[in-house]
Amino acid sequence: MSTAASTTSAGHSVAEPLTIALAGATGDLGHRIGLALLDRGARLRALVRPASAAKPEITALRERGAAIVEVDFNNAAALARAFAGADCVVSALSGLRDVIVDAQTQLLNAAVAAGVPRFIPSDYSIDYTKLPEGSNRNLDLRREFGRRLDQASIQATSVLNGMFTDLLTGQAPVILFKIKRVLYWGSADQPLDFTTIADTAAFTAAAALDPTTPRYLRVAGEVATVRDLQAAAAATTGQRFGRLRAGGLWLLKLMSRIARRLAPAPKEVFPPWQGMQYLHNMFTGLPKFSSLDNDRYPDLKWTTVREVLATRK
Ligand SMILES: NC(=O)c1ccc[n+]([C@@H]2O[C@H](COP(=O)([O-])OP(=O)(O)OC[C@H]3O[C@@H](n4cnc5c(N)ncnc54)[C@H](OP(=O)(O)O)[C@@H]3O)[C@@H](O)[C@H]2O)c1
Repeated sequence: MSTAASTTSAGHSVAEPLTIALAGATGDLGHRIGLALLDRGARLRALVRPASAAKPEITALRERGAAIVEVDFNNAAALARAFAGADCVVSALSGLRDVIVDAQTQLLNAAVAAGVPRFIPSDYSIDYTKLPEGSNRNLDLRREFGRRLDQASIQATSVLNGMFTDLLTGQAPVILFKIKRVLYWGSADQPLDFTTIADTAAFTAAAALDPTTPRYLRVAGEVATVRDLQAAAAATTGQRFGRLRAGGLWLLKLMSRIARRLAPAPKEVFPPWQGMQYLHNMFTGLPKFSSLDNDRYPDLKWTTVREVLATRK
C-alpha cells in the first residue's frame, strides 16, 4: 500500500516508498499525520513557511527522517518544485478564506503543475456535502475549495471524521463536568460522529498512501447520542450525569446568530458562534455519515469516547 514498484538496473522489481508532501506539518493534526506517514514507511516531505521552520514539530519530523522544505506559499514556481515527484499532497492547514480557499488553491495549482496525481484537502469535518450553504461559515469555505479541486486535473480525496472526540474533554461545551450535565439542543437520541485527532491522522496517512481512494472517505471512532455521552461521562468519572436540554434547534440557531452579531470576531477561525453553528449542524442529523469507511485499513484501531474521557485531567 505504501510503496510503488520500480525496476533495478539488474531488472529486479523493488518496492519504493511513496513520497507524500505535507502542508501544515506544524499544526496539531498535521504533525500527527506526518508522524503516522513516517510510521507507515512513507518518504515524507514537509512544507513549512520559513517563519515556522524552527518550530519543535518540524525538528521532531526532521529527526525522524522527514525532508523539510522551507517554501513561500506565494511563490508558485518554488511550490511546484517542492512537489516534484510526490505521489500525493496532503493539506492540514487551518484558517479562513485566505487559507482554506486561497492558500490551498496555491497548493493545488502547484500540485497540478508538478504532475502530482493525488490531493487530500484540509477538510476533516462533519459531512459538509449534505449541509445547505450558509449553515456553517467554515464548512462553506471547504465546499468552495472543493469545487475548485473537482475541476482540477488531479484525483481528490476528502477525509471526513465528524467532530474531534478530544474536544469533548472541555473545549466543546457539551459534557459540562462541573455541573455534571450533558448539554444539548433538539433530541438526546440524535446519533453524532466523533473521531480523535490521532485516529484521524492515522487514517489520513493510510489514505495518502492508498492510490485507490474515492472522492470522500468517512470515519467515526464512535457514533454516540447525548444519552451515550451521558453514560460515558458517568462511567469514566464514577459520578451521575444528567442531561440539560437547552431548547429546540431553532434556539441554538438563534443563539449562534446573536453571538455572531455581538462578537463577530471575523478573523477567528473558531469563535463561539461558529462552534454553535457546528453543534447545530450535528444536532440536526443532516451531516451524519450514512456509511463508514472505518474498516478500509484493517490495522487501524478506533478510540472510543470513554477512552478519551478517561484521559481527562
Ligand atoms: N472536526 C473537528 O472537530 C476539527 C476540530 C479542529 C480542527 N479541525 C480541522 O483540522 C484541520 C487542522 O487543524 P489543526 O487544529 O491541526 O490546525 P492548527 O494546529 O491551528 O495548525 C494550522 C496549520 O496551518 C498552517 N497555516 C495556517 N495559515 C497558513 C497560511 N496562510 N499558509 C500556510 N500555512 C498556514 C500553520 O502553519 P504555521 O505553523 O506556519 O502557522 C499550521 O501548520 C483543519 O482543517 C481544521 O479545521 C477539525
